[in-house]
Amino acid sequence: TTPLRLGVAGLGTVGMGVVSIVRRQAALLAARTGRDITITAVSARDAGKDRGLDLSAYAWESDPVALAQRDDVDVFVELMGGEDGPAKDATEAALAAGKDVVTANKAMLAIHGQSLAEMAEAAGRVIRFEAAVAGGIPVIKTLTEGLAGNEITRVMGVMNGTCNYILTRMENAGLPYETVFKEADDLGYLEADPTLDVGGIDAGHKLALLSSIAFGTVPDFDGIEIEGIQRIAIEDIRQAADMGYRIKLLGVAQRTGRGLEQRMQPCLVPASSPLGQLEGGTNMVVIEGDAVEQIVLRGPGAGQGPTASAVMGDVCDLARGFRMATFGQPATTLQSAPSTRAALP
Ligand code: NDP
Ligand code: HSE
Repeated sequence: TTPLRLGVAGLGTVGMGVVSIVRRQAALLAARTGRDITITAVSARDAGKDRGLDLSAYAWESDPVALAQRDDVDVFVELMGGEDGPAKDATEAALAAGKDVVTANKAMLAIHGQSLAEMAEAAGRVIRFEAAVAGGIPVIKTLTEGLAGNEITRVMGVMNGTCNYILTRMENAGLPYETVFKEADDLGYLEADPTLDVGGIDAGHKLALLSSIAFGTVPDFDGIEIEGIQRIAIEDIRQAADMGYRIKLLGVAQRTGRGLEQRMQPCLVPASSPLGQLEGGTNMVVIEGDAVEQIVLRGPGAGQGPTASAVMGDVCDLARGFRMATFGQPATTLQSAPSTRAALP
């Protein structure tokens, strides 16, 4: 059988995690997929940076667009990040050159997902993005495969580990927001632009993708009512605890009589519920379907190993010839509905 040849653009936290799995688990990946999975070329900004692994076996491309167009690349793996710029340019170039794409880039997909999916469909290619939603938790696969026999009625969850870390640390240590925010910064948890985390935008990007898959709609980031955690005070957390609740930055997407409601807001959840018991940087996604009723998925939403694990799940699907698109199908019967603060279970 022919190998599946990857071109990896972005050799940071996630990119190097992918390189590491491809090398460390070569035999396992071949046994599972029936094909050798190899890396032929890589790209990053700084060719001289020590990344902890010897990359000399791979061709170096300083331009990710050139990497995406190489004849010896079958799948373009985009791990640079950014809503526009090189990530989008190279993704478009890869599709135009007839390559499938695997990406972890929630910001790019939440905004441009539909146009990229249409490009992919026209080219007979797919874009896979398991790592873009809830990191290591295989939530997209669960929705599209395991729960394919269900009409999904609601998805909700905690999808930003940094916010959950900040909120639980404030509660457990009795520390004010500003102190814990600084702590999170020192620990390297915050995105380069921390507003993406604490403003609920990163979690909103993930919810836009999740709800588009759950409800078969075009990703609608602008239709999400978003409120971050910046104004949560320690007194709010204490009062919630006194009543048996915890405050979580909770994303909810659900069918209502008026259409699809999507919101990402600090919410009170019962302290004894699975969501209420979620500590630290962990993510949790709750899915409700007409047949399955409710399932709860929990796991690491970020980090090198967990995110690369999700990327490799997509790569393995492509190696096996499983090329189902996850959005971009004709859909959009549900229009965005203004949010209501419906009671949560
Ligand atoms: P990093 O900042 O660690 O790495 C980004 C990489 O992209 C770097 O290697 C950088 O090069 C490279 N890069 C940036 N711009 C260019 C460019 N113009 N040309 C070529 N290479 C470029 O990011 P992460 O690995 O953390 O994140 C990658 C993606 O994964 C993002 O979309 C992120 O949102 C997503 N993600 C990340 C998670 C995580 O836990 N980190 C979790 C889930 C998703 P250089 O090293 O030379 O500077
Ligand atoms: N900043 C994100 C988080 C990284 O804290 O969850 C993973 O997407």
